[in-house]
Amino acid sequence: MKYAIFFLLGLLLLHSCQSTRNQKNEKTFVIGFSQCTMADRWRETMVKEMQIESDIYADYKIKLLVKDAKNSSEKQITDIKELISQDIDLLIVSPNESKPITPIIEGIYDSGMPVIVIDRKIESEKFTAYIGADNYLIGKEAAKYAAELLFNKGTILEITGLKGSSPAIDRKRGFHEVINSIQTIRVCRQIYSNWTEEDAFLRVDSLLQQNTPCFDLIYAHNDYMARGAYKALKKHNLNQIPIIGIDGLYGPEQGINMVNEGILAGTFLYPTGGDLAINVAINILTSHQYAKNNLLKTTRIDRTNAITVMLQAEHIIEQQSKIEKQRDLVSNQKAIITSQQSKLLISYLIAFVLLGIAFIAFYTYYVKNKSNLLLKEKNAKIEKQNAKIIEQRTRLIAMVKIAENATETKMQFFTNISHEFRTLISLISLPVKQLIQEQTKSDSISETLKNIDMNTDRLIELSEEVLDFRKIEKSSYKLNLQLFDIKDIIENRISGFKSLAHEKQIDVVFKGQELLFNFDRRVIEKVFNNILSNAIKYSPKCSQVIVEASVVDEWVRISVEDYGPGIPEDRMNYIFNRFEQFDFTKEANLFGSGIGLAYTKELVAFHNGKLKVQNKPEQGIIFDLFFPHDTTEMLPDPNENYQQILADTGATNKEYTVLVVEDNEHLRQIVKKILLPHYHIMEAVDGKNAMDIIGKQIPDIVISDILMPKMDGIQLCQKIKTTPAIADIPVILLTALATHEATIEGFETGADAYVTKPFNQDVLKARVSNLLKNKERIKEQFYKITTKKSDQSKNFRDKEFLDNVQKSIVKNLEKRDLTIEDIANDMNMSHSTLYRTLKKATGMRSVDFIKLVRLENAARFLLTTNFNVEEVCYLTGFSDPKYFRKCFISQYSKTPSEFRKDNLSINS
Ligand code: FRU
Repeated sequence: MKYAIFFLLGLLLLHSCQSTRNQKNEKTFVIGFSQCTMADRWRETMVKEMQIESDIYADYKIKLLVKDAKNSSEKQITDIKELISQDIDLLIVSPNESKPITPIIEGIYDSGMPVIVIDRKIESEKFTAYIGADNYLIGKEAAKYAAELLFNKGTILEITGLKGSSPAIDRKRGFHEVINSIQTIRVCRQIYSNWTEEDAFLRVDSLLQQNTPCFDLIYAHNDYMARGAYKALKKHNLNQIPIIGIDGLYGPEQGINMVNEGILAGTFLYPTGGDLAINVAINILTSHQYAKNNLLKTTRIDRTNAITVMLQAEHIIEQQSKIEKQRDLVSNQKAIITSQQSKLLISYLIAFVLLGIAFIAFYTYYVKNKSNLLLKEKNAKIEKQNAKIIEQRTRLIAMVKIAENATETKMQFFTNISHEFRTLISLISLPVKQLIQEQTKSDSISETLKNIDMNTDRLIELSEEVLDFRKIEKSSYKLNLQLFDIKDIIENRISGFKSLAHEKQIDVVFKGQELLFNFDRRVIEKVFNNILSNAIKYSPKCSQVIVEASVVDEWVRISVEDYGPGIPEDRMNYIFNRFEQFDFTKEANLFGSGIGLAYTKELVAFHNGKLKVQNKPEQGIIFDLFFPHDTTEMLPDPNENYQQILADTGATNKEYTVLVVEDNEHLRQIVKKILLPHYHIMEAVDGKNAMDIIGKQIPDIVISDILMPKMDGIQLCQKIKTTPAIADIPVILLTALATHEATIEGFETGADAYVTKPFNQDVLKARVSNLLKNKERIKEQFYKITTKKSDQSKNFRDKEFLDNVQKSIVKNLEKRDLTIEDIANDMNMSHSTLYRTLKKATGMRSVDFIKLVRLENAARFLLTTNFNVEEVCYLTGFSDPKYFRKCFISQYSKTPSEFRKDNLSINS
């Protein structure tokens, strides 16, 4: 990764160097060229040469700005000024005339800008470089050739170039210098032309029109004027007169070709120097060496070498065109390379960015991986700890379970044994009672028998205490609150301890008035017995035990005060511990503390009371028992008031059906007989049989035995309470005393009531009536709350139709995707008819109607079954409890739980 980044960076660096170089290549030089005229081929060639030369420099870009002065010195001055204003780096001038152009060139030169003068000169040395052939020498060579052609004898017509231009001056000077040296040759006539063919033609023509020719040869300062002269000679049929020109350009109607065609006798090569001008310019601009005066070579072209020169020229032109092609190719390649370089640069950049992203991703992954590893390690540690904790917890639960089981087994053992005790004691007690009644025995025997009787009664009481204690433990003991006078109870109990008190000469004093309140006599007697027996037991001989009953605020207070040794302060907090043993309980006899203060305290708490104990400052202790004076909140449901209910049952009009489930034929008939005056009776021999019957006809209530073959009462109850369609049927379980504990468990399956066997028929009737009334009340409540759809419809047919639709929905209540089509199929009608009729009868859409029926049934389940809200949601065909809750609130303005709570509390 590291190396890849370095490699990429290297490539980028290389590329940027390359680009820099390219940028340097593209350093542009702007060269201004003021051309005196562009009217002829020679001038065109000069510019072309300049352009070709400009393109061959790989390191520079040369921008050539060309201006054509059109043979006007005035225009040329303006052109030069314009070029200067265009921010050129160098100026090339081919002056039209020397004199008028000189000052401006000098000025530019003085300003520091390099100036190259080409072809024609100025009258000053204030220029940077000059390029051109030696016109003076050309003039001389032309004269020598003329002499050769004239065999040193004859006359010459000289046609000069523009008068003020340096080539014209120099070509004339050189020519005359040689001619003047030959006595037999002279320039007989001079025509001052302007370098153009047209002007030369006109002038020679006009001369020939005026006089007969006085010349044997024509010397023209350039090939164009030579051609004009030729045309004039030809016009006058004088074309045998030889003509010498200057320039020697290759091409149609150009010098070389004219020599080759015999139009001219000869011409002198006068190179344009365009390429050299650019070469020198670059040297100047790049501070390389250059010569100030660059003289171009010249040569004579006559009939002897014209063809060779032509071929060479052709070859050169061919090469030139190849070079141009190559150049085009190169520039194309350059363009391709440039575009590829740009693409490459973009690619590098993308690669670099990608590499950057990859690096960041890799780094992030690395860091994340590292932290993940750390997390994993931590998690592993935590998991290990968790596993340990779970293991410890499981072990603890197992231990607790074992302990619970052990306790339960022990308790069960005590319970069973207490039953046994009670039975056996009853067997002793009954004959004793009979013996006492016979009154045939002596007084002493009678006294002994009474003692035995008293003690057996007490033993029975104690065994019951153990059983009650067990019930309280299992929370199955029910308070039986009745209005009693506490004074009576206390006095009665005190008299029970009379002989014990008498034995210790202890005076048990009761202070208190009549005090009526609702309490469970059994509970309060047991509590009081325990406390009083302890007080007498620990009181010293010849002392007092004071019992007091009073009302303190909302409490009934019963205090028992003794003059015994009291309880050591450090043990005070422990005396109510269940298995704690103290000196005063160690010798607990059967009349004493029973199963101890722990049981006493539980009994008091069970009666919503309080038990307080304190040592008296001087001697002894006071036990204070507090029981609520107002026990209305603790009172059982008024419906449990059997007398009341019994009166109600008489009014029953056989509108309900009771299913009696009992395998014992005899017992079943007894139950039937009891209930037949008030209800329709159906019979079943076991739970399974009962379910079959319920499947056919739903009863209003079920009375079932517990122990039965096939399906016992508890299973039957479970089945009913978990089947949504029948979960609201009340179930009464009949239990034998021996199976009472199991019956309590039966309640957990949802049984509504139980009646112990052998039962009191009034109690049974009262239970049935009570449950049916309850059911009725809930139903009323339910209909009060829910929308009465059928009431919305106006006629009986609509009501009947709605009942059928509702029945069809209820049949498939659990089906979440129940549709109008399903209901229509069930009712044997088309779904469109169903839809329309439903809309007409209720004004509701079918989906809303289905939802309403679902919600009504949900409300029914909430009031009549033990299903929790979530179960009700699914049972009524809602798939999402949240949605169910929302719909329920919008229908009943309460959450399902609130609805259940509020309406059930109305009914209780
Ligand atoms: C072209 C030309 C040439 C000549 C030169 C002199 O315009 O007339 O024929 O040699 O200029 O400056």
